[in-house]
Amino acid sequence: MKIISNSGIAVALFLIGTKINSASAQGDNGWHANTITVEKLSKERPGINYSEEKVPAYNLPEIFTSHNGVKVNSVDLWNKTRRPEIIELFRKNVYGRIPETPYQKKFKIVSIDKHAMGGTATQKEVDIIIEAMGKSLTFHLTLFTPNDVKNGVPVFLLIDPWRSDTDSPHWKQKDEYWPVKEAIKRGYGMAVFNSSDLDPDNFDNFKNGIHGLLDQKIRPDDAWGTLAAWAWGASRCMDYLVTDKDVASDKVAVVGHSRAGKTSLWAGAEDTRFAMVVSNESGAGGAALARRRLGETVERLNTIFPHWFCSNYKKYNNKEDSLPVDMHMLLGLIAPRALYIDCADEDLWGDPHGSYISLYNAVPVFNLLGVNSDIPESMPPLNKQVISGRVAFHIRDGAHNLLLRDWNWFMDFADKVWK
Ligand code: GCU
Repeated sequence: MKIISNSGIAVALFLIGTKINSASAQGDNGWHANTITVEKLSKERPGINYSEEKVPAYNLPEIFTSHNGVKVNSVDLWNKTRRPEIIELFRKNVYGRIPETPYQKKFKIVSIDKHAMGGTATQKEVDIIIEAMGKSLTFHLTLFTPNDVKNGVPVFLLIDPWRSDTDSPHWKQKDEYWPVKEAIKRGYGMAVFNSSDLDPDNFDNFKNGIHGLLDQKIRPDDAWGTLAAWAWGASRCMDYLVTDKDVASDKVAVVGHSRAGKTSLWAGAEDTRFAMVVSNESGAGGAALARRRLGETVERLNTIFPHWFCSNYKKYNNKEDSLPVDMHMLLGLIAPRALYIDCADEDLWGDPHGSYISLYNAVPVFNLLGVNSDIPESMPPLNKQVISGRVAFHIRDGAHNLLLRDWNWFMDFADKVWK
């Protein structure tokens, strides 16, 4: 028997001895993986499961049962007991803990162009300087805000590990991956920082970047990994954004694609000033349930990217069922703020169905906190956005990527939540 349970209520039961049928599990009209894609990917990566039928039986940890067995059924119990417990479990076992080393922070506005993009936008370039123990590290934030708006505007802050400031400055205004012009037209600000400037995306035994500045001499097993460092960087960007009068600081969304989508979720969990979290195709270690072991697994993540998570996470390699959390609990930490999860049809590595089940099982937290959301148990069809209350989801056709079409859906959601 396979039970996926939440708040003590069995939400999905599959009969004893019956194989899970992905079509019926997801509803006839809903998305399900294309069998040709499943076959192709299975051949490319033998040893990785891409097939819904081979997902093992699993139980999700109870989101609403606290350590002492108390059933969490009030806003107060969630905020004072269960949310702190869950965030601690993620710090200790998954992303790691921020060190307590004291540091100073400075913002230096390097340039302001009030006539950017043909006069429609203001572009600011800001250095964020972190100083500790006689050393310093600088990383960079770019911000565009529309000119025709008097008050502060809602802003999407993108965590970007890939492009460096040495790239052509023009990509910042043109690329589908960061479509500034379209956002400005719709009244949104766009900010981006290069998270690899804060912590390089390679295993260097945590010598470089912010780890080199703030880490203790001996790193405990729950010391922060690279993704937690990037999430911390998003919060330092937020420290700047709350000071900028062109920004509506109560309407800042933190956005990330893939590894940065894992990061945006953790940033939103740790820093409740982010009023919206957008996690694009974040997969394993992000929105996708670890226990399903479809596509990328905990072991594979920890082997290929040993710097992303804390050392304790490695204890769960091939032992997903012993994890005290699963990713529905991470998504629950975003409530009652706004949460957007999206996936791509060909990106089975990132387990779209597992990401949707995760969201579905996080929804009761949004409801407990009074922002009523109700998404169907079965996945929506391809390219059909689902919005309910403060949660949204889509699965786009095509490959693993962050495209203008995704951004347009994010902005449609933000229009609903904020305008
Ligand atoms: C790899 C990795 C994923 C990650 C992705 C990305 O595919 O296995 O976990 O999300 O890179 O960041 O593009």
